[in-house]
Amino acid sequence: MLESMQRLLTGLQPSGALHIGNYLGALKPFADMYGKYESFLMVADYHALTSLRKPDELRQNIREVVRSYVAAGVDPKKATIFQQSRVQEHTELAWIFECLVTVPFLELSHAYKDKLAKGLEANAGLFNYPMLMAADILLYDTDFVPVGADQRQHIEYAREAAAKFNNAYGQTFKEPEGLISDTIATIPGTDGKKMSKSYGNTIPLFGSKDEIAKAVMSIVTDSTGERPENVYAIHALFQTKDKLDSLYAEKKGKYKDLKEALVEDIETLVAPMRAKYDSISDADVLDILKEGSHRAREFASAKMRDVCEKVGVNV
Ligand code: ADP
Ligand code: TRP
Repeated sequence: MLESMQRLLTGLQPSGALHIGNYLGALKPFADMYGKYESFLMVADYHALTSLRKPDELRQNIREVVRSYVAAGVDPKKATIFQQSRVQEHTELAWIFECLVTVPFLELSHAYKDKLAKGLEANAGLFNYPMLMAADILLYDTDFVPVGADQRQHIEYAREAAAKFNNAYGQTFKEPEGLISDTIATIPGTDGKKMSKSYGNTIPLFGSKDEIAKAVMSIVTDSTGERPENVYAIHALFQTKDKLDSLYAEKKGKYKDLKEALVEDIETLVAPMRAKYDSISDADVLDILKEGSHRAREFASAKMRDVCEKVGVNV
């Protein structure tokens, strides 16, 4: 079957503790589809350096991303799980792309502007971010890149980088397609805005039941409406509409009871994953990354040899 030969690659920045928005928006969709493709799952640790300068935290986050994906159902034998920084070809190719694109072109990045608006430092790494991401994708002749809607423009940047290189040096890179699901909603946080680690409104994915309960109890409720909409919106991700509607009718006005029911429903989903998560040791994570990065390097170095030949740095 032709489809089984197609390549899928995605990446996640190890920039903080994962939350249920990450699970429903990124981990679960990947776990549901990766088996149909030759799949690569990359921990974008160099990307995280654009915003994180705490080495111990970074180390811990890298391990957490790997554990989380495996706990969410990704089999490291069936997908290549690797660390960006262990495959040096990514930063090398990013440099070559940076020499092909202009500053005004990179200035069009919404993600860059959004990050500056959130108060992040305008470091050159943040500015060049899209070219490192282009390298991540293009090194593997990737067909599909499953990402959230916020990453749409980054996929366009990768396509442009491929086209510019091909135009300058001859056909070398495949232009990838983004797989952006319209059916995956933006998961709301405890304040009703998009759940995001940068807004401090998250429900932790692998937190203890107490931590989950603490986050759920902090969901902002508005006593003027028919039902607590913020609680309901999150609850609807874990329960059928019929069950919820009868529960919310029965417990009308009893916000604490409704929140307790939500904690139980989150716990039902998370408990088996948490058990799996806890069973993965640091040594297991290192083995997965070592093996995956070795496999990734084989693809990346072959591609890079071709690139070096094309641009003329191999003498
Ligand atoms: P955060 O906003 O917490 O920093 P990231 O930007 O690191 O999250 O996102 C990592 C992945 O999780 C992306 O694929 C993103 O689309 C997905 N994701 C993050 N927050 C949500 C959300 N609230 N709803 C759905 N998906 C999300
Ligand atoms: N920029 C992506 C994010 O913030 C992470 C990422 C880095 C990525 N490299 C990638 C995603 C390559 C897909 C493919 O979510």
